[in-house]
Amino acid sequence: MIIITGASRGIGKFLLEEFQRSGEDVSGTYFNENKELEKNPVYHRLDVTDFGGAEKFAAGFGDKLKDIVLINCAGNNYNCFAHKSSPGEWRKVIDTNLTGTYNMIRAFLPAMRSQGYGRIINFSSIVAQRGIPGTSAYAASKAGLWGMTRSIAVENAGKGITINNLNLGYFDIGMITEVSDEFQKIVKSKIPTGEFGDPVNIFNAVKFLINSEYINGSSVDMNGAIS
Ligand SMILES: NC(=O)c1ccc[n+]([C@@H]2O[C@H](COP(=O)([O-])OP(=O)(O)OC[C@H]3O[C@@H](n4cnc5c(N)ncnc54)[C@H](OP(=O)(O)O)[C@@H]3O)[C@@H](O)[C@H]2O)c1
Repeated sequence: MIIITGASRGIGKFLLEEFQRSGEDVSGTYFNENKELEKNPVYHRLDVTDFGGAEKFAAGFGDKLKDIVLINCAGNNYNCFAHKSSPGEWRKVIDTNLTGTYNMIRAFLPAMRSQGYGRIINFSSIVAQRGIPGTSAYAASKAGLWGMTRSIAVENAGKGITINNLNLGYFDIGMITEVSDEFQKIVKSKIPTGEFGDPVNIFNAVKFLINSEYINGSSVDMNGAIS
C-alpha cells in the first residue's frame, strides 16, 4: 500500500489522486484541521514531528500493511535571513522536513524489514544545492535528507528496501505558487524552457523509483536544467 504524508495539498495531494486513478490502495495524511478530509477515510490527521503519533498511525493499519511504499511529502518553509531568524521557527522546519521524515521512516521500517520489501521516497530540493538567501533552515533540512538516505539505504538494502530522494527544482504546484509573481518570474528566467515543471513528471519519477530495486540511496535531480 502507498502512504503519502502531506497529502492535503500540493504535490502530496496530486500524487494521491494520481495513484487513486491508477487503482492503487493509497492513504494520505494532513496536518491542519480540515473538515472535508476529516470525513474522508483515505485521510488521517498526523503531525510528522510527533513520533508517537507516527507509530500509532503505522500500527493502525494492522494486517493491511503490505508492500509498503512511503512517500514523504510533508514539509514546511521559513524564509528569513539567519541573523534575524527566530530559533523556534528555524527548528520547526528541521523538525518537520528532516526529523518528521525520519519519524515516518522509523515508524514503518520494522514492518518493511519483516516483510522483506519497502520503498521510501523523500523530497529534497534544489534550494539545498544553491545558496539562496533566507533559506538556511529549509536548505539545511533538505541537505540532511541526503546523508540520512545514504545511511538508511545501506542499513536496509539486504531487506528488499530502497530509499531515495527526488531533488525537485520548481514545479507548477504547491509551495512555489505561494511566492510573489516577481520571484516566480526571476526563477523562470533561469529555467531554459522558461516554465516550471509539470507535476506529472514527479508522478512518473515516483513510479519509476517504486519499480526500481537497484536505485537505492540516490538523490535524483529534477529541475529542467535550471542554471
Ligand atoms: N512545490 C515545489 O515546487 C517543490 C520544490 C522542491 C521541493 N518540494 C518539496 O516537496 C514536498 C511537497 O511540497 P509542496 O509544494 O506540495 O508543499 P505544500 O503545498 O506546502 O504542502 C505541504 C504539506 O505538508 C503538510 N504538513 C506541514 N507540516 C506538517 C506536519 N508537521 N506534519 C504533517 N504534515 C505537515 C501540509 O499539511 P496541511 O495542509 O494540513 O498544513 C501539506 O499537506 C515538500 O517537502 C517540499 O519541500 C516542493
